[in-house]
Amino acid sequence: MESEYFFEASHITKKFGAVVANDDISFGIRKAEIVGLVGDNGAGKTTLVKQIMGVERPTKGDFYLDGKKVEISSPTVAKSLGINAVYQELALFPSLSIVENIFAGSQLTGPLGISKWKIMKEKAYEKLRVLMKDEVPRVDTPVKELSGGQRQEVAIARALLFNVRLLILDEPTSALSVREREKIGELVTALKDQGISIIYIGHNIEEVFNLVDRFIILSRGKKIADIEKKNTSLEEVVALIVSGGAIGRSHLK
Ligand SMILES: Nc1ncnc2c1ncn2[C@@H]1O[C@H](COP(=O)(O)OP(=O)(O)OP(=O)(O)O)[C@@H](O)[C@H]1O
Ligand SMILES: [Mg+2]
Repeated sequence: MESEYFFEASHITKKFGAVVANDDISFGIRKAEIVGLVGDNGAGKTTLVKQIMGVERPTKGDFYLDGKKVEISSPTVAKSLGINAVYQELALFPSLSIVENIFAGSQLTGPLGISKWKIMKEKAYEKLRVLMKDEVPRVDTPVKELSGGQRQEVAIARALLFNVRLLILDEPTSALSVREREKIGELVTALKDQGISIIYIGHNIEEVFNLVDRFIILSRGKKIADIEKKNTSLEEVVALIVSGGAIGRSHLK
């Protein structure tokens, strides 16, 4: 039987010595779905993302893409599978330009190893135009001259260079103004409309609630709820996070 999920995590467990950062976590992701991955500090969200991206390997458990088991052994493998992430700490190079940042580590070169800057600039501009609409800065602007929201858009443009099916955003708006946060929200919705699936991690539950189709809630490394937004409320999601699932209803998992 064909699964409704193109991506699946099955019994993912990650231990760091005595710390069980992820404890037997299973879930699936549908095409063009925005899933909020939420939970308190230290719940295990970033650890889970790092395994999906091949930065860390699970202690136990497997990932499946289109029903086939995949060994995500490195971020390069993740990207080749159509999975990419933008992390909490942005990892942009402030003194390098927008185009240099977008192509960092994946420069286009000709047969003699010469960088194809003209093509890279055009491609960078195209990606940014889709994300930023009419407010695209010159692609040779140093990133340190950009606002927080613009930096976030550059980081997302970089992630979209590869053909992305699953984009993971870990706290994309934590350092942004209200207007900038709204823009990232609009951008995420636009990506969904293009058929991209998004795992969205955020601490501002009200903001996440407005954006997502479904919630996966973690507490102390365990998945305590996996629930469609239409079957829950902002209050219930907050209560689940705060209580660590103690108020949980058995149907949530
Ligand atoms: N490399 C590591 N070595 C040891 N322990 C780690 C490591 N990475 C994460 N942990 C631990 O695993 C647990 C989960 O951390 P993680 O960063 O995944 O949480 P999080 O849900 O992303 O939290 P936050 O909301 O604060 O970003 C924490 O107890 C953390 O201290
Ligand atoms: Mg985190």
